[in-house]
Amino acid sequence: MKIFDRKKELNAFSSEERKKDRTIGLVPTMGALHSGHISLVKKALSENDFVVVSIFVNPTQFDKKDDLEKYPRTFQKDVSLLKEVSENIVVFAPSVDEIYEGNVTSKSYEFDGLDKVMEGEFRNGHFDGVGTIVELFLRTVAPDRAYFGEKDFQQLQIIRKMAEIKDLPCTIIGCPIKREPHGLAMSSRNERLSKETRGQADFIYSTLLAAKAKFGTKSAKEITDWVTSEFEQHPLFRLEYFEIADENTLTPALKIQDNQKYRAFIAVYADGVRLIDNLRLN
Ligand code: PAF
Repeated sequence: MKIFDRKKELNAFSSEERKKDRTIGLVPTMGALHSGHISLVKKALSENDFVVVSIFVNPTQFDKKDDLEKYPRTFQKDVSLLKEVSENIVVFAPSVDEIYEGNVTSKSYEFDGLDKVMEGEFRNGHFDGVGTIVELFLRTVAPDRAYFGEKDFQQLQIIRKMAEIKDLPCTIIGCPIKREPHGLAMSSRNERLSKETRGQADFIYSTLLAAKAKFGTKSAKEITDWVTSEFEQHPLFRLEYFEIADENTLTPALKIQDNQKYRAFIAVYADGVRLIDNLRLN
């Protein structure tokens, strides 16, 4: 399996492959790969001749130093996992210096307000950091398609917007959330949860499911108040936000319109670890 750590070399490789009319899929990751990532990689392999998986913990998208430092890094394990999946995978694992060339800052983006709510409200500068790194990957690899998990649904919509604004000729594909058997959305961060918390973390998904069951008969405010009180009574989880929002604009659903699609979005702290999840409501 080819592993690149230089932008230039990866770019030259992609260009050569493109000349041979080979299609390229891109799966950007921050490593600590789990079966959620592997499902993205398999989908990308089924739709392209080969797949570039980037493994890079991007410092500019972290607003807390502690969160960046504690982010799990399991490079050798990640590579072994990918080797088992297919030979048609190329890994891109650059250093921070290679990417940022001594200037570890984000570019500034205009995402039509998609970045102002939810994650954007609670994680200062996060989406500028995501935009910066994903734009760089898209320009370096020039893939036909790039794959992102719907767990980070707001990120997915923002990346779609960025590809449109920057006129990047790549199809952005969203892939369904993979869940652990009891319902917790798969995330590299789950590794940092204690056994007890992990055992009870189905509470997040079951609350989302209950919110979905109420959607249609209760207002967004009533559902939000109910979710808030459920979390207030739970000893292990602290709710940061729960929001019912329009899927496309991500604006809060003040009044439910028949022809719009809505999702419930949630961010929760457990053991000092921040977990997010979401669920389509209609
Ligand atoms: O979703 C992630 O893991 C990251 O935000 C991404 C898209 C790889 C950019 O660093």
